Amino acid sequence: MADVFMNTYHRLPVTFAKGEGVWLSDVKGKRYLDFSSGIAVNCLGHGYPPLVKAIADQAAKCNHVCNYYQNDVSAAFAEKLVAACAGMRKVFLANSGAEANEGACKIARKYSLKKYGPGRHRIVTLKGSFHGRTITTLSATGQEKFHKDFGPFTEGFLFIPSGDIDALDRALDPSSVAGLLVEAVQGESGIIPLDDAYIEAAAKFCAERDILLMFDEIQCGIGRTGTFLALEHYGVKADIVTLAKGLAGGVPVGAVLAGEKAADVFEAGDHGSTFGGNPLAAAAGLVVIDVVNKPEFLREIARKGERVLEILRSWEHPKITAARGRGLMIGVDITAEAWPVLEAALARGLLILSAGTHTLRFLPPYTISDEELDHGLGILKKILDS
Ligand SMILES: Cc1ncc(COP(=O)(O)O)c(C=O)c1O
Repeated sequence: MADVFMNTYHRLPVTFAKGEGVWLSDVKGKRYLDFSSGIAVNCLGHGYPPLVKAIADQAAKCNHVCNYYQNDVSAAFAEKLVAACAGMRKVFLANSGAEANEGACKIARKYSLKKYGPGRHRIVTLKGSFHGRTITTLSATGQEKFHKDFGPFTEGFLFIPSGDIDALDRALDPSSVAGLLVEAVQGESGIIPLDDAYIEAAAKFCAERDILLMFDEIQCGIGRTGTFLALEHYGVKADIVTLAKGLAGGVPVGAVLAGEKAADVFEAGDHGSTFGGNPLAAAAGLVVIDVVNKPEFLREIARKGERVLEILRSWEHPKITAARGRGLMIGVDITAEAWPVLEAALARGLLILSAGTHTLRFLPPYTISDEELDHGLGILKKILDS
C-alpha cells in the first residue's frame, strides 16, 4: 500500500479496484460481499446504473458552480430533500458529516444568542456519541478515546449519560443550553438505538425550554433504519437534522436541515462551503432520494433487517452475546475481539465493520437480496464456529 498516506487508519490488507451491486473486487479479481457500504455510504450498492448515469451526465453538463450563483440541480435536490424530511423547512448543503454538525452547532448558538443574549451557548451531547473529527465535532463527541492528544477543545459542550432522563433534565438548563445533539441510533459506539421514553423526554424538555433538538442522522438517516429519518420511529419533531454519508450514494455531500424555529437563523455571510451541494453531488442525491424515499423500498429495508436479526438470534451462538439494530443497521456483540473476525471475514470474501472492540457492525447496501444476506451470514457463522 502507498506509504505516503498519513497513518490515520487501521487498514485491512486489500486493495479494491471495482464494485458491482453488493460486490467489490480487489486488484487481483477476488470478489467480496459488501456488508459495509463504505460505512453507510454506498446505500444503493456499487455501480447502481441510474446513479452512474446521473453522475456521468451531470459531470459532462456542469460539474461545479460556486455559491455566488444558483444552479438548477442543487435547487431541485434541496427541495426534494427538505420535502423528504418531515418538519424541515430549509437546508444548508455541505460536504461531510462533521461539516454538517458544525453548521448545526452554529445555528443553535446563533438562535440562542439572538433570542436570549450571551451565555446560553452550551450544546449537550451524549456519552457514546460520535459527531465527527474536526475540533468542534470532536468536542461534541462523547467518547474519550477520540479526544486524546487534540485539546484544547471548543468550549461549551457537555456530555451526559445516554438513557438517564433525570440527568437530561438537569443538563438541559435553559439559562445556559442552546441545543441538544443526539443520534437516534448511535452508530460508532455499537448500533445502540436510544429508547422511546428518553427521546420523548428530550423532545418535551427541549420544546418547553426553547432548546433546539438536533438529530445527527449522518449514519442512521436516509432510509438506513427503514424510515427516511430514524427519528420517525419516535414520533417526535426535530428542530435540526444533519445528514451525510449515504445521501448521494458515494459522492461527498452533507446537509443541515432546519425546521420552523431555526430555518431563518443564518443570514447571508454567516456560513458557507465551496463545494457544498455542488451540481455533481446534487445530481447523485436526487437519485438516492427518488429511489429510497418510497414506502415499499423503506419497508423492504426494515424487513431485511428484521430477518437478519431473527437469523442471528436463532443461532443461539455461544460467541454472540447480543444482536440488535434497526433496518439495515445491525450490531452484533461477540465474546471475541471484533478485529480478528473482520480479518477472517475478509479472507473469506465478506466485508464487515466493527463498532468498538467487541461489536461487529453490518451496514449493507439497501439493494442487497435475502440470498446475499444469507451468504454473508453463512460466512460469519463459519468464522464464529471455528
Ligand atoms: C453519527 C455520525 N456523525 C458524524 C459523522 C462524521 O461524518 P464525516 O466522517 O462525514 O465527517 C459520522 C461518521 O462516521 C457519524 O457516524
